[in-house]
Amino acid sequence: TFSSSRLSLLLPCPPSGPAPPVPASLSRRYPVKRLLLLLLSVACYDMCITFLPVSFFLHSVKLWASAFGGEIKSIAAKYSGSQLLQKKYKEYEKDVAIEEIDGLQLVKKLAKNMEEMFHKKSEAVRRLVEAAEDAYLKHEFDADLQYEYFNAVLINERDEEGNYLELGKEFILVPNDHFNNLPVNISLSDVQVPTNMYNKDPAIVNGVYWSESLNKVFVDNFDRDPSLIWQYFGSAKGFFRQYPGIKWEPDENGVIAFDCRNRKWYIQAATSPKDVVILVDVSGSMKGLRLTIAKQTVSSILDTLGDDDFFNIIAYNEELHYVEPCLNGTLVQADRANKEHFREHLDKLFAKGIGMLDIALNEAFNMLNEFNHTGQGSICSQAIMLITDGAVDTYDTIFAKYNWPDRKVRIFTYLIGREAAFADNLKWMACANKGFFTQISTLADVQENVMEYLHVLSRPKVIDQEHDVVWTEAYIDSTLADDQGLVLMTTVAMPVFSKQNETRSKGILLGVVGTDVPLYYICVYIMTDSVTHPVPWTAEFVTV
Ligand SMILES: *[C@@H]1O[C@H](CO)[C@@H](O)[C@H](O)[C@H]1NC(C)=O
Ligand SMILES: *[C@@H]1O[C@H](CO)[C@@H](O)[C@H](O)[C@H]1NC(C)=O
Ligand SMILES: *[C@@H]1O[C@H](CO)[C@@H](O)[C@H](O)[C@H]1NC(C)=O
Ligand SMILES: *[C@@H]1O[C@H](CO)[C@@H](O)[C@H](O)[C@H]1NC(C)=O
Repeated sequence: TFSSSRLSLLLPCPPSGPAPPVPASLSRRYPVKRLLLLLLSVACYDMCITFLPVSFFLHSVKLWASAFGGEIKSIAAKYSGSQLLQKKYKEYEKDVAIEEIDGLQLVKKLAKNMEEMFHKKSEAVRRLVEAAEDAYLKHEFDADLQYEYFNAVLINERDEEGNYLELGKEFILVPNDHFNNLPVNISLSDVQVPTNMYNKDPAIVNGVYWSESLNKVFVDNFDRDPSLIWQYFGSAKGFFRQYPGIKWEPDENGVIAFDCRNRKWYIQAATSPKDVVILVDVSGSMKGLRLTIAKQTVSSILDTLGDDDFFNIIAYNEELHYVEPCLNGTLVQADRANKEHFREHLDKLFAKGIGMLDIALNEAFNMLNEFNHTGQGSICSQAIMLITDGAVDTYDTIFAKYNWPDRKVRIFTYLIGREAAFADNLKWMACANKGFFTQISTLADVQENVMEYLHVLSRPKVIDQEHDVVWTEAYIDSTLADDQGLVLMTTVAMPVFSKQNETRSKGILLGVVGTDVPLYYICVYIMTDSVTHPVPWTAEFVTV
């Protein structure tokens, strides 16, 4: 019916003049009108639509919609038992009071509650930042400083003779239900140092010493807001001071791999979002250990990227090899899935041929430039990470073409291996492009050296003393997991800077302070307070 009505609408009234000539053979079999209809309907469906009045379509569509709606309604009624439910509700009608809720009012109140809660957490973090910055300002570095701190791994450990280990004095721990019954010490924080670092390194001992003054702020914050859980300071030197103090156990290999500087909250607070192209030299000279170190370096760089960042990895010799060939010429978000995917492809790299860095640099600059134009990336911060065992040239012409005088793309160069023959060129490239040069000679060096670039990228923030509060995306926390399952957390974090006048322009990041907020806490806080009676599903929501 539809097609015939459509066509009849389309046709003009029967011609008043003489009919157009029609071949006799056709007119015999089809009346002229019919034929025209047929041709029109077959040949120009799209064109016809444009000729038809809108009201006609509206009418048909309304008809379809109501037919469709009626059908759905009857199916829904049949299978949901809605009538039965209605009957049931009727039975209870006398006992039930209906209260009207002002939706706008409710939302406003929710917003206010949330704001207060966010504000309270941010204030706690801000107090920690102030205390840390003041403490550092007053501290004078002492390379010979001897200081016995509570090392979270060594506390309460004794040697064969029953004496406490160095840095492992007695540390009283009491199970606390606010902390999921973990044994904690709520009057002191303690300090964790990654296994690959020397826990009596002067930089660490000095840092631990001045950050001791955070203890009283931790305790004070907890007094003011008893809903706070972990509070901490992650130092740029690598140690992690956590309140309340707990005992850390090494993993099954006896290793404490946790490095606070790799955590999302740390990176997010310390740096602005960035677009990064990683160039890895896979020429013949990179064979063997160098390639292994290079891969590890790439992997460590990936560790420092988060959801706000975009990246790609190109291996180069005479040719360019995108590590993931499907993602040729663009950058992808550095989320976990993408990073894992690229890591798997890294294993396939092998070294041969000669390295043509100029081609790789051209590609990287073009890619970053194009990506910036898409407006998807970070806008502010772009970098090229170059991992190689040497460069024969300084490639001035390329930098002049793409990056000077504004030097918007920073170049970080990582020299792999012990030889320093080509170090000068790499140093020059980094310095001429507002970056940083690092030599990585052994696998053990990788992580520590890769971290260095974060200082440089946080420099603009430091110089402007931008104390932005960051809230990380939700993540799963295992320490507070209980029989109800894992707990989703968000972290409020803020960077800590050196306020010393003489280093101010250099921009020295001391670390990041943070506190965790479980997401269910936000839900409970909002729900229970905003409605006169707690919403029945709150309890269930919490367990989910
Ligand atoms: C925390 O540990 C210290 C050192 O062992 C101890 O003196 C203090 O009483 C402990 N605090 C609590 C609340 O257990
Ligand atoms: C990237 O894709 C373009 C176009 O498809 C192609 O010409 C180029 O060779 C590719 N580059 C690499 C390195 O795969
Ligand atoms: C990216 O583009 C914006 C404007 O479109 C510009 O202000 C910014 O400097 C560019 N960033 C880089 C690193 O080129
Ligand atoms: C640092 O500089 C500011 C102003 O530039 C000055 O007020 C302050 O006293 C200086 N502090 C120190 C410790 O020199």
